[in-house]
Amino acid sequence: MQKRIAVLTSGGDAPGMNAAIRAVARVGAHYGYEVLGVERGYDGLMQGAFLLLDSKAVAGIIHRGGTMLKTARSEEFRKPEGRKLAAEQLKSLGIEDLVVIGGDGSMAGAIALEEECGGWLRTYVIPATIDNDMAGTDYTIGFDTAVNNAFDAINKIRDTTESHERVAVVEVMGRNSGNIALTLGIACGAELVLVPERKMEMPEVCDTLRRGFQRGKLYTIVIVAEGAGDAHDVAAQITKSTGFKCQTTALGYIQRGGHPTALDNLISSELGFHAVECIAKRSGSGMIGWKQERACLVPYAERTVGEKGRFSRLYKMIEILGKH
Ligand code: F6P
Repeated sequence: MQKRIAVLTSGGDAPGMNAAIRAVARVGAHYGYEVLGVERGYDGLMQGAFLLLDSKAVAGIIHRGGTMLKTARSEEFRKPEGRKLAAEQLKSLGIEDLVVIGGDGSMAGAIALEEECGGWLRTYVIPATIDNDMAGTDYTIGFDTAVNNAFDAINKIRDTTESHERVAVVEVMGRNSGNIALTLGIACGAELVLVPERKMEMPEVCDTLRRGFQRGKLYTIVIVAEGAGDAHDVAAQITKSTGFKCQTTALGYIQRGGHPTALDNLISSELGFHAVECIAKRSGSGMIGWKQERACLVPYAERTVGEKGRFSRLYKMIEILGKH
């Protein structure tokens, strides 16, 4: 019988997931596997929602945002009974290798599912979240597209902020991470970036803005990571203590949608490619990380936790560039 492998997307969608699915399907075919897609993440796995991903099924998807397999955050799968059900579905189809494309929650699910299977299942997690906040990889699929979507939006906001000589307070996504906000802060030339990793009190925020206007600034951009606070609250506090007029925009899902950038499709394709190479070589399970411009297998136990290397540097750059 032809060997089977399966692939699913889980958690928040991220532009570039389709390129990773396409790579898994086509490289799988190259190595002689029958590749099955699972719809709606772990929910679909428990329900047995499999579909055949032959080369034709993944044609015409690489340029699309979102995920052709749909995605979900599954509550049921967090329970042992849910994982038992998922394991039974895989076993009944003879699938011993599962590629999971998603973030930290999805990876925790993959590890728990392997435990449930007691040794016969291997999982490979392709890191995908716009937040770029996963340990063990320099990059997660979707980050570049999200940053560029927000970059375009902030540059439009800048035009009207400048015309009205106001303070633009822009909230960006990232859950508990300030990676998107910091990157945009540098790229858009923001005066201030508020991130959850470094607490900045409102008096310091207001003083920095006051000094900027005293130096002759006619308008200002403040970027707020969603994990650092609510942009409307920040704007209200700025106006209350400085009298400056603020305009507030929470960019929301506009950051996560739309066609992926070339970089996202390139890295997604490389990670999908490497996942199947690891399956074919029986390299063992783990995260398919992106390190020093290469795809590599990072065993789950070897992922190192901590801030991404560039975080401190970017934060320091903002402090200097925004204050002079
Ligand atoms: O993790 C990706 C992300 O887009 C975060 O930036 C955001 O906080 C969260 O997902 C939103 O999740 P949901 O799609 O459930 O609203």
